Parts: sequence; structure tokens; C-alpha cells
Amino acid sequence: MTALRPRRKLDSAAQVESAPNEMINLHGVAKRFSNAAGEFTVLKSVDLTINRSEFVSIVGKSGSGKSTLLNMITGIDHPSEGQVVVNGTDIYTGVSESQRSKWRGKNLGIVFQFFQLLPMLTLLENVMLPMDYADMYDFDERPARAMELLKLVGLEKFANKLPILVSTGQQQLVAIARAMACDPPLLVADEPTGNLDSRSADTIIQLFEQFVSQGKTIVMVTHDPSLTSRTHRNLIISDGELINETVSRSLPQLRHRHMLEFTKLAEERAYRPNETIISRDQRVDHFFMIRGGSVDVVLRDEKNQEYVLSTLAKDEFFGESELLLDGKSIANVRAGDQPVEVVAIPRADFQRVMNESPITAEALGKIVQKRLESQRIADRRS
Ligand SMILES: Nc1ncnc2c1ncn2[C@@H]1O[C@H](COP(=O)(O)OP(=O)(O)O)[C@@H](O)[C@H]1O
Ligand SMILES: [Mg+2]
Repeated sequence: MTALRPRRKLDSAAQVESAPNEMINLHGVAKRFSNAAGEFTVLKSVDLTINRSEFVSIVGKSGSGKSTLLNMITGIDHPSEGQVVVNGTDIYTGVSESQRSKWRGKNLGIVFQFFQLLPMLTLLENVMLPMDYADMYDFDERPARAMELLKLVGLEKFANKLPILVSTGQQQLVAIARAMACDPPLLVADEPTGNLDSRSADTIIQLFEQFVSQGKTIVMVTHDPSLTSRTHRNLIISDGELINETVSRSLPQLRHRHMLEFTKLAEERAYRPNETIISRDQRVDHFFMIRGGSVDVVLRDEKNQEYVLSTLAKDEFFGESELLLDGKSIANVRAGDQPVEVVAIPRADFQRVMNESPITAEALGKIVQKRLESQRIADRRS
């Protein structure tokens, strides 16, 4: 795919300063719709950064705002508030609809749940369409390039067939080939496997993985948990708001509405290397999730010698046994040799959500149990 270089021109007016490794930056993006019943908010002040070569999935209940969020990134719709920078271009400030559409043709590939191939055109012609539209590549080069893309998705044999003559999985592969026609750095996909069997879905994710390994950035909305585990990052949107990623990774069992509560309550704190976070015998006032770095849980044996019971890293948590057992800390918890960032939830809020979420409380209880067991083993050893 790299053999043919596209002619890529950007509208200089909208170029902005952004970190070179950032592909997408949303700042304070809100979206409101109004209808007869009044105005309602679909996205509430979303902040989001996605780096180049990241493979990001987005999940959320139906109606939570996933497609609306994607439409903010693609420029298909426009935000009521906030700034959207994609590939170094502020796509809404001082850019006309037609400039945006041109920009989109060269910078973005878009894939939908229903493939939207033109039924009267062959597969090859469908793939050539974006090149014609964006006027990319020399006219004579386009068929060869489209054939190359069909080969990439394993459908070169069907190049001259109409879409109706191939399976739905194959139609989606053609739609992906079409999305990549102008070699865009970013692919945005809205439930691309939502209408496919699991084998076709797997083929598509493998293809996405291949694109990502070549440096493409992919943002994909999906309902399928077996796919989110294959992306670098999984974002959860609940009621038009993004969940704090440390919260969702540390406590994946939580209901989205509880994750959102924790997101709003989350207090970010930083500690220096080796700084004490919780002291032994101190009442614990927060539940902690680790955002970066690692912490040591330190105990003393009968001879008053310190030993490290366990080391907890990013996306693990601590403080829960004290909160669940309603006691004082049995150990010191301190930062490791690197600075530590945590997300802290106040005691009362943590306990309330645990009462409302027996599944999470049970999962946490099991982890606490394991830790206590390993502590007993360590005690016996000392
Ligand atoms: N153009 C629109 N006009 C009015 N309401 C809309 C429009 N687009 C989406 N909505 C509403 O916004 C909410 C979120 O929609 P959407 O982003 O499509 O959700 P999702 O993709 O997560 O299912 C829904 O309640 C939907 O009805
Ligand atoms: Mg949707």
C-alpha cells in the first residue's frame, strides 16, 4: 500500500499546533440537539486524546452517544461547543462544510455497520470512488491501486462483480478497502462487525490489527467484548460522558452508571518515589486505583523487620480491604521507586456503590481474600 504515494494537500487555514504524536484531540466537546420537546444534551464536555498508531475501541449502551462522538471526529456533524483537532487540523474553526468534506476525503476512512456500497458499481469501482472524489492519484493509477486494496482484503477475484454477489462479510471487507482508498492515516469505524458472524468479524479485526501495525490509527465503536480485548485502549461512554479509564480498567465489573459516578468523584493524586500513601494502623479514608507507577504493600514481621507483601501496578487497587472490613490499615502502602499517580474515591462513596453493586463487591472480596491468603503464607514463612 505504500508503493503509491498520495498527493496530500491540506487547507493551511485550519492547521494548528498540536503534539506530533497526537492524532485526535477533543477539548470540551459538547453536543446538544433540539426537538419539539426542547433541547437535550447528547455529549457533555468530552476531553479525549488519541495518539497515532493507537487502536481504540469505544463501547456504551445504545443511545449513550457513541455515534455522535464519532461524528464529531469525522466532521460529519459539528459540536455545539468545544474544539476538535484531527491530524493537526482544527476541523471546525474557520473551515467551510465543503473544505471539511475535502479534508475528510484525504485524511479519514470511515466504515459503518451497513456497508453502503453502491449496488450498481462493481467492487473495483466502489473502491475507486473515493480516489475520484478526492482527486487522489493519477487517473490511470486508480484501477491498479483499487485492485491492490482488493487483494489486501482477499477479494481480487471478485473485482468485477456487483456487491450483491458476495457475502455480507465480503461486502464489509470491500467497504474497508474503500475506506483505505486514499491511504488515510485514520480509520473510524462505527460497529463495523455489528452485522457479521464471528468469523467475518475476526477477519476484519485482523485486518485492522495489520493497519495499526503499519502505523494507522483506528477508532472503532463496538458491542462485542471479544473485540475490545484486542484493542490498545477501550473507552466507555455513559450518558454522553467518557468514563475515567483508570476506573474502568481497575473495576471492570462495575455497571457503567457506577463507573460514571466514580469518574465524577475521582480525585487524582500524585506521590513521590517511596512516599507513604497509607500508614499502618491509620484509618483509611479512600479507595485507591493506580493510574501510573507501582506501590509496595509493606508489613513487619515479629522481629519488626519490614517485608514487601505485594507490589501493585497500574490498574490495580488498594485500600479496599480496610474499607470493606471497616478497619484500620494492616500494612503500610508506599510508592515504589518511581512517582505514583492514583485515582482516589472517598470512603463513603465507595461503600455506597459497593452496597449497590453486589457483583463488584464480590469480585473485590475475592481479591481481598487472595491477598490475605498470600499474607498468611508470607507470615508463616517469616
Ligand atoms: N441528529 C439528531 N437529532 C436529534 N437527536 C439525535 C440525533 N442524533 C442522535 N440523537 C440522539 O442522541 C442520543 C445518542 O445517539 P447516538 O450517538 O446515535 O447513540 P449510540 O451510537 O451510542 O447508540 C440518542 O438519544 C439519539 O436519539
Ligand atoms: Mg450508534
